[in-house]
Amino acid sequence: MRLDGRAAIVTGGSRGIGFAVAQGLLASGADVLLTARDGIGVEEAVERLRAGGGSGERRGRVEGRTGSAGDPDATDRWVRSCLELFGSVDFVVNNAGANQPLAPAVNGDPAVWLDTFAVNVHGPLALVRAAWQVWMREHGGAVVNVVTEGVHGAGPGLAAYETSKAALLQLTRHLAAELAPGVRVNSVSPGLVRTELARHYWEPAERQLASATPMRRLGEPEDIAAAVVWLLSPAAAWVTGTDLLVDGGRRVAPRR
Ligand SMILES: NC(=O)c1ccc[n+]([C@@H]2O[C@H](COP(=O)([O-])OP(=O)(O)OC[C@H]3O[C@@H](n4cnc5c(N)ncnc54)[C@H](OP(=O)(O)O)[C@@H]3O)[C@@H](O)[C@H]2O)c1
Repeated sequence: MRLDGRAAIVTGGSRGIGFAVAQGLLASGADVLLTARDGIGVEEAVERLRAGGGSGERRGRVEGRTGSAGDPDATDRWVRSCLELFGSVDFVVNNAGANQPLAPAVNGDPAVWLDTFAVNVHGPLALVRAAWQVWMREHGGAVVNVVTEGVHGAGPGLAAYETSKAALLQLTRHLAAELAPGVRVNSVSPGLVRTELARHYWEPAERQLASATPMRRLGEPEDIAAAVVWLLSPAAAWVTGTDLLVDGGRRVAPRR
């Protein structure tokens, strides 16, 4: 699955799922602009990615930029940087997600709701708009939004997070309809993945959670990255407006 000569923006690329997506894209030959808020995290991720490799195949180039995925000035800057650095903006991976402290919907802090929606919905839309304006409208491209399998239920205290991710799922469908045939837009819904974001949830009960999963383990960032890279690639040329659930079979697990 070679993606040589293509360029991608991956938000939240300094660790976890976004880092693995950047790794997968680079190994396929695509150039990557990864972004996150913490500058040191971005620098270290870029260094690790540049030091990686060894398959003998051509690897893409990688650069990093800082900023919040919920800040439209930052998303505009990232699109301009990607164009200047690599000459195109073929792929957008809206992976950065705000996951605020647990709070009920009825008396949670309204500012937290606004911030969660800024990062999980408005930022991804701003990034796609900017990429469409400067590149995708004329040259085409592909977008993957990272949602969550949680949108199919209602996790306690996760109202802001899951409601915003459900909005991102619906936005994926609208963008897919609006931007076809030049631009494909899909989402991936991860189940529980062993990253920092979900550590408080999986670390205390990893064995039990794994045994309740048909594939008998929790997800790794690479499991999600493989789905993202496939959706971006020409192998998924007839796939748009869909959501790919990658959860180790948790949705079909027998109830215990
Ligand atoms: N892990 C899971 O079980 C799971 C399950 C379902 C869905 N997801 C989704 O998968 C995506 C990636 O999560 P992850 O588990 O890989 O998390 P992670 O390991 O905590 O990594 C999050 C990445 O996003 C960056 N980030 C966080 N908030 C940001 C913001 N406002 N603006 C820009 N960058 C930001 C972080 O760097 P900085 O902190 O430096 O900004 C980091 O690079 C999220 O959208 C999450 O909702 C995860």
